[in-house]
Amino acid sequence: MTSVQACQPLSIPGRPLLKWAGGKRWLLPHIQPIWRVNQNRRYVEPFCGGLAVALGLQPEQALLNDINPHLINFYRWLQKGLRVDVPMENRVDLFYRHRDRFNALVAGGKTGTRESAELFYYLNRTGYNGLCRFNSSGCFNVPFGSYTNITYKRYFSEYRAAFANWTFKNVDFERIPINDSDFIYADPPYDVEFTQYSKGGFRWDEQERTAEWLSKHHGPVVLSNQATPRIVKLYRSLKFTLRFIPNAPRRISCNGDRSPAKEVLAFRNLK
Ligand SMILES: C[S@@+](CC[C@H](N)C(=O)[O-])C[C@H]1O[C@@H](n2cnc3c(N)ncnc32)[C@H](O)[C@@H]1O
Repeated sequence: MTSVQACQPLSIPGRPLLKWAGGKRWLLPHIQPIWRVNQNRRYVEPFCGGLAVALGLQPEQALLNDINPHLINFYRWLQKGLRVDVPMENRVDLFYRHRDRFNALVAGGKTGTRESAELFYYLNRTGYNGLCRFNSSGCFNVPFGSYTNITYKRYFSEYRAAFANWTFKNVDFERIPINDSDFIYADPPYDVEFTQYSKGGFRWDEQERTAEWLSKHHGPVVLSNQATPRIVKLYRSLKFTLRFIPNAPRRISCNGDRSPAKEVLAFRNLK
């Protein structure tokens, strides 16, 4: 399976607008056939990140959630047909000026503004690796990305219609209002074994909380994660069906090991 096809005629491009860590566009060929037989349901993504899967599937009805308020603010402004008025150029001086202004808005409690959404888009495209990282004082501190070429989009009017039946939430995943018949695709942050990874990251007890919450859902569930031994054990113990995907585009990088990371899909309640 190599081609990525959307299930519905596209009114917007299927490619994500943002660079986002852990984007799962590459998993679409595995998720699409499952979605196709469920596409009359509402699509729910509790960890929607860069929307790579939602944009690829283009569901009619969707509930999309992420804990990152800047991301969700950007999507909510897309729903209003955002037009970006701030200057956008791939220049180091402009990048740091916009970064300072973004931080001033955040410090002033103006995360929900259109200007904040515009700056977030610019910083994501122009900053290093599309990272979204904040220091202990709450300041966005990602450095300039030094890319050769960046394409900026200024007009997003087509997203007004495309996102009309999509609801965006910005809460912890367990607090999203789901219905028994919803189709859930959950892509939590990767389980990173053997590290104390937690600043802005996901601890092991949160992986357990995710698995238990998903196991209680009555409708179809698809979960993706890194196939670490403890993730495999966790989802097996909750009676999920597992499918291993070799050759994930990421590499295991600790200890100089460059072998491809292994991904696992865990399913429940699929016909
Ligand atoms: C691996 S990314 C999802 C990527 C997405 N599937 C894509 O293809 O672009 C995981 C996301 O989970 C979000 N997240 C972390 N903790 C969360 C929580 N407790 N509730 C909701 N979202 C959370 C992060 O902000 C991040 O965007």
